[in-house]
Amino acid sequence: MILRSSTAISHPNIAFIKYWGNADPELRLPSNGSISMNLEGLDTITSISKNTDDKSKHNLIINGKTQETSRVSTFLDKAGAMYGFHDTLVIESTNNFPMGAGIASSASAYSALAVALQKFYQLNLSSMELSTLARLGSGSACRSIPSGYVEWFQGNNHQTSYSISIASHDHWELFDCILVVNTGKKKIGSTEGHLRADTSPYQSVRVHDTDRRLEICRRAIINQDFEKFAWIIELDSDMMHAVMMTSNPPITYWQPASLAILQEVRKLRRSGIECAYTMDAGPNVHVICTKDHVKNILDHFEQFPGIHQLLLAKVGMGARSIPGQ
Ligand code: PMV
Repeated sequence: MILRSSTAISHPNIAFIKYWGNADPELRLPSNGSISMNLEGLDTITSISKNTDDKSKHNLIINGKTQETSRVSTFLDKAGAMYGFHDTLVIESTNNFPMGAGIASSASAYSALAVALQKFYQLNLSSMELSTLARLGSGSACRSIPSGYVEWFQGNNHQTSYSISIASHDHWELFDCILVVNTGKKKIGSTEGHLRADTSPYQSVRVHDTDRRLEICRRAIINQDFEKFAWIIELDSDMMHAVMMTSNPPITYWQPASLAILQEVRKLRRSGIECAYTMDAGPNVHVICTKDHVKNILDHFEQFPGIHQLLLAKVGMGARSIPGQ
């Protein structure tokens, strides 16, 4: 059966044990394994069809606006050569969360696109194989393919660097309160950041210690042990930012408001509120909390200085196609 179009939905994910630095930038094979949870409530819906108007190039439309296509073209060329598809495509994508706010939209974008391609070209890939396809577009996208809590194995080639679910989306009801910190400064994207990771003397220390942190985090999730979980995710985030800040040239994503929030989160935890922070490649702070404490966190930070916007996500399912579309 030849499909005229195919549509998929996916979510970004937040890493608890971070991926930073590539062993192979071409294939986006990471320097270390990582663990994350998918963020339901933040949705990307992507449809693809053949570009019959102009067969010479892809047409990328995000939230109704035509976009520059070089990154998606590189991905489609690479993926097409591996999986045997060569059409020029129209890719239409919508995000229900603000773009340019530093929320990892590339993870949801490339995982949704991988699922849409799988259906469109009837690739018949397993979930693991699909995660490797998504990884070619954005490393962290491979973690948005499986459901719930996900581990991405570092691997040493295209086939062995894939993600699996380590606990389902309903295993532990954690929430991510994303505190969007207002900043006029343009961030350095993760593609550039990964390239700089090895210039930090702390990167090799961080990488060599990864298996230990992965084990502690995996266990804390399986056992729903918030105390251990909070300790390890804050340590891991701080270790990644220490690498960023000591790279050459250095990258400092923390803003004064970010640091104030980190200190506040620790203070709240000391007062008995189950919450912990983690930060990606930007100034926003993700406050991970248990269900009973979501309201406390949202109320507490509503008027907090320097916060531009609050977003809330729960543990989400993996990327999936939308039937009939
Ligand atoms: O997938 P990328 O290239 O956007 O890199 C993601 C990097 C971090 O968000 C900082 C960490 C992670 O593991 O998601």
